[in-house]
Amino acid sequence: MSLSIERLQALYTRRAAVYDYELMPVAPLRREAIAALELAPGQTVLDVGGGTGLSLPALTQAVGERGRVIAIEPCTAMMSQARRRAAVAAWRTPIDFVDSTVEEAPLETLVAPGSADAALFFFTHDALQQPLGLSRVLGALKPGARVVAAGLVWAAPWWPLSNLFVMGAAMHSIISPQRLDCPWHDLAPRLASAEVERRWLGSAYLLKGWR
Ligand SMILES: C[S@@+](CC[C@H](N)C(=O)[O-])C[C@H]1O[C@@H](n2cnc3c(N)ncnc32)[C@H](O)[C@@H]1O
Repeated sequence: MSLSIERLQALYTRRAAVYDYELMPVAPLRREAIAALELAPGQTVLDVGGGTGLSLPALTQAVGERGRVIAIEPCTAMMSQARRRAAVAAWRTPIDFVDSTVEEAPLETLVAPGSADAALFFFTHDALQQPLGLSRVLGALKPGARVVAAGLVWAAPWWPLSNLFVMGAAMHSIISPQRLDCPWHDLAPRLASAEVERRWLGSAYLLKGWR
């Protein structure tokens, strides 16, 4: 286990019990991000760094019982909550819980290369900074698949309060804070097209892209 994985496990194990409450204010942006995936019944979607499964209700509803959700999450405590959430909800959509970082996720054993329909990176800055992980996800997606990412980003310098917020939130949730000026730095050039919009007085972004 590398040092950063140990730090990740420690950080999110500590937060797991209160995580769903902490993320409540983010719900509108989550809804917007999932809507941007434009999912249809029967489709397969990857939830990268899926955490406690807060996106699962909307993702399972969108793809239905003939669809599939693949949730990738390395923190055992966070994934336990996602599993519990699914067990309680008893959704009929098949969900694969992949206990792994995205860079080590054995996606090729779960989904035929180039066949998945969409991928979501919701507040997963650390996962977005993993070129190998991005290769795995992009390799699983079909051409034209939707890729949506959202998260923290440095606001313009004339928004100091926004940047104070980003700094505090990043210290609380991110292991590798590099590239907070452009979290999509590695992802966007590898997509056929991508557009980025700002939210929350510039302190959050929403990237809508196509494989
Ligand atoms: C802020 S949480 C977001 C969780 C979830 N996406 C949500 O919407 O609530 C970030 C998550 O990314 C996960 N993560 C961090 N590095 C990762 C990596 N390299 N691969 C996959 N997941 C990662 C963390 O364990 C954590 O659960």
